[in-house]
Amino acid sequence: MFTDTHCHISKEEYDDIDNIIKRATDNGIYKLINNGCNRQTNEEVLQLAQIYSNLYCAIGIHPDSAGEYTKEDLIFIEAHIDEAVAIGEIGLDYHYEGYDREKQIELFEAQLKLAEKYSKPVIIHSRDATLDTITILKKYPNVKGSMHCFSGSLETANIYLKLGYKLGFGGVTTFKNSKIKDVLKQIPNSAILLETDSPYLTPEPIRGTKNEPQNIRYIAEFVSQVKNIPLEELSKITEENVHNLFDI
Ligand code: NI
Repeated sequence: MFTDTHCHISKEEYDDIDNIIKRATDNGIYKLINNGCNRQTNEEVLQLAQIYSNLYCAIGIHPDSAGEYTKEDLIFIEAHIDEAVAIGEIGLDYHYEGYDREKQIELFEAQLKLAEKYSKPVIIHSRDATLDTITILKKYPNVKGSMHCFSGSLETANIYLKLGYKLGFGGVTTFKNSKIKDVLKQIPNSAILLETDSPYLTPEPIRGTKNEPQNIRYIAEFVSQVKNIPLEELSKITEENVHNLFDI
C-alpha cells in the first residue's frame, strides 16, 4: 500500500479517469494527492476530490503561471482551503528564459503565507532555483511540506530536511544516469515520500509511456532496492511519512 503524493489527474490528460483510479487502487495505491497548477486545474482537482474518495487535492498556482495569475486566484485558494490537503504545486522555476523572478517570488510568498495562516503543508516545485527556494522557505519556519521531484545534492537535501521538509522521489530517481539514488542512500527513511508526477516523468522500466499513479510500484521497488528495505516495510515507512505531513 502506497500513496502517490504528487500527480496531475485531469480530463485534459486522461480520457478515462475512472480507470486510472481503478488501476491505481488495484495496484495498491490507495491514496493520491492530485495537484492543481492554475485556476482551471484547481477547480478541477477540487471537483475530482468530491467524486473519488481516495483522491485528495492540493491547490496552488505553479510558478509557470506567475505571469498571468490574479488576486482572485489567491482568494479562490483561500476560499477552498478546507477542501484541500495541501497548497501546491507552488514554488520557483528559473529553467526557461524569460521568467519573471520577482513575480514568482511574490506569488510563492503569498501562498506560503496562506499555508502559515491555515497550517497547511505545501508541495514545492523548485527548478534551477535552489538558493532562492531555501532563502524564502527559511522565512516561513512554521510551514512544512514536500520537495516535489527532489533532484538536488545531499547538501541541499539536508538543508530541506533541517527546515522540516520531506523529499518526493519519482520517476527521475529511476533513470539510468540519475545520481539521486546516491542521495537517497544517505538520507533518513523518515524523509522519503513517493510520487509519480503523472502524466509526466514515467519511471524505468516503462519510461517513454504515459505515466499514471499505478506506476508508483516501479518507484517503490527501486527505492526498496536502493535502501535495502523490503517493500512491506517501505510501505509502512512511507505511509507514516505521509501521515506526518498530510491530513489524509
Ligand atoms: Ni507536478
